[in-house]
Amino acid sequence: MNLPTAAGGGFANFPPAFELVPRLLLLLEDAEADFESLAKLIRVDAGLTTNVLRLANTPSFAGSFRSDTLEQAVLRLGLNEIYRIVATVIASPVLATAHDPALAKLGLWTHSLAVAVAAEVIARRLRQETHAAFTTGLLHDLGKTVLAQKYGGQYAALVEHCISANQPIWKAELTAFRNDHAHVGAGLLKHWNFPENLVSAILCHHEPLRCARPHRQLAALVNIANTVAYRIGHGYGCPAETADPDPGSIYSLGLGKRDLEGLEAEASEALQREREAFQ
Ligand SMILES: [Fe+2]
Ligand SMILES: [Fe+2]
Repeated sequence: MNLPTAAGGGFANFPPAFELVPRLLLLLEDAEADFESLAKLIRVDAGLTTNVLRLANTPSFAGSFRSDTLEQAVLRLGLNEIYRIVATVIASPVLATAHDPALAKLGLWTHSLAVAVAAEVIARRLRQETHAAFTTGLLHDLGKTVLAQKYGGQYAALVEHCISANQPIWKAELTAFRNDHAHVGAGLLKHWNFPENLVSAILCHHEPLRCARPHRQLAALVNIANTVAYRIGHGYGCPAETADPDPGSIYSLGLGKRDLEGLEAEASEALQREREAFQ
């Protein structure tokens, strides 16, 4: 199967605001970035601005304070928090496709949010910046939306098969389609000019040790976050996905088994806040 192309209609469900995510990531890398430059980028999309402001004012994020303008919200919540809200608002209509039987069965939206939050928790433990980890987690299974769109009922049947045969979905995709959602998602994000580390980590999120060395840590981090999400109950009920995280991934992050203790509880708690805001 070829990677989807813009002309091929593979992006039919992708909002134009999707292109803002790599631009915002780039901005966050810039030490000179300030709240005005972030607000300026977001404000080009009126619908997005309204949604971000609405979410920034929910009790999960704002407590008892209200922001009347985007600038106030960015100033109060900070660049990182606003970025997380923006990325989630943009990705949610693509991933939360309950009308699609395969994606609903996969629990794709909650699974993606759980992986994003778990990746952020791990990045914080490693004292790394968190927006790359959060974004990679959020979009790691994006390719599933394309496969579901392309194969319809066949893909839904494949999900059922994986549950009964206890086979991870990506392995079944390779057998059935000679491609898997990791390759499809990475191809898509490359097309949208996402940074190379994020594209490579998503390409290798099932087999992080195959990732190019500079991006292996991020791939390993998302691999563990993916397992955490399944283990706290956000997936499609395939037992094989809840096996212990790959020791190679743990080692490549410089973590010990003890570092992983409490990770599931912490991710569960952090996810609760996100779900309350984004439900
Ligand atoms: Fe995956
Ligand atoms: Fe996943």
